[in-house]
Amino acid sequence: MTTQGFSAHDGDNPRKNPGVAEESHAGTDEKILPQTQAQAGETQRLAADNPAHIAHAAELLRAGKLVAIPTETVYGLAANALDPQAVASIFAAKGRPQDNPLIVHVSSVKNALPLVKECSATAHLLARHFWPGPLTIILPKSNLVPSIVSAGLSTVALRVPAHPAALALLNACQLPLAAPSANTSGKPSPTLASHVLDDMDGKIAAVLDGGPCAVGVESTVLSLTSETPLLLRPGGIPLVKLQALLGKIDVSPAVTQALQPGETAHSPGMKYKHYAPQAALTLVNGDLQSFLNYANTIKPDGLLCFDEDGVGLAYGAQNDPAAQAAQLFARLREIDERGWQTVLVRCPAPEGVGLAVYNRLLRAAAFREITL
Ligand code: TXA
Ligand code: MG
Repeated sequence: MTTQGFSAHDGDNPRKNPGVAEESHAGTDEKILPQTQAQAGETQRLAADNPAHIAHAAELLRAGKLVAIPTETVYGLAANALDPQAVASIFAAKGRPQDNPLIVHVSSVKNALPLVKECSATAHLLARHFWPGPLTIILPKSNLVPSIVSAGLSTVALRVPAHPAALALLNACQLPLAAPSANTSGKPSPTLASHVLDDMDGKIAAVLDGGPCAVGVESTVLSLTSETPLLLRPGGIPLVKLQALLGKIDVSPAVTQALQPGETAHSPGMKYKHYAPQAALTLVNGDLQSFLNYANTIKPDGLLCFDEDGVGLAYGAQNDPAAQAAQLFARLREIDERGWQTVLVRCPAPEGVGLAVYNRLLRAAAFREITL
């Protein structure tokens, strides 16, 4: 699209609930029909609400294969966490740097315990409140966790996902599952099975289609390896909820700032380019009118705006961070489908889940942010 002039009535997105409502659920989408028999090298499409398909996915995982699975946050690319070869194939399929450790998913605290050296009272408290759910806890690891999972670190990241299909699969395979987001490294995380296939078709054994991910941004990552808990990545559980339970929490500077030259990342994932579409994004703070005036001056290819702005591509209402989170990654993928090279983005308020939305957008924009 070339910009003839932006005004508040040329919205590109007339759909009521973009990115969520229009996408069909497992088994109803033509493109993702349940299909358990596939040729070698083909990615099987499985339905998350079909118990036979869950059982088949569990078999594939037990055989050391990769299966993309729905979680409440984003789709994960799962493998047996205790099988170093299977885990190595996750890194290969994603093109993920070897020094970026993986989250291990388990079905219960009981199944997490063998993977850690010690589980503090704080960890138990957090687990009681937020598991199953979008919180990842980092603890000293036991020898059971292969070093490829933790990328050589002495810690392990653990989470009990809340999605019923993820839990059913964990119970069916009886394995801890290492699972990063199921995107090609650096690209926006997948919130639909079709996003997974866009990146992984032919590279993985199967995708379990559970429809759109409800939360839409990844889990909150909290390290419990120092005296004061440290937030490494904002996510589905808002920081204020953790503070309400634990009191003081340190926030890694990497949450809102680019890593400075020579600085070591607390979380290796923080140092890599992330969530980025091909397009160059710029986050813009200011009211709608100033935003439109600015857009008409610099004439970007497209705009990413709030629903009520009535202009550009919409990613949720301004005061609804949960809706923004649910739609963000689908919108970032859509920007590339439209071939936009330059995009101005209405900056979200970094509060509640909005901190995660802001954090992802900031990285997608390579930290380009302006205030009008
Ligand atoms: O919601 C989620 O967390 C999704 C779903 C699939 O569970 N998974 C996910 O994984 O987002 P991934 O690999 O895309 O992001 C994991 C983040 C990375 O930034 C990684 O560096 C960090 O967690 N991480 C993993 N293990 C760590 C460790 N032992 N110490 C510090 N950071 C760690
Ligand atoms: Mg990721």
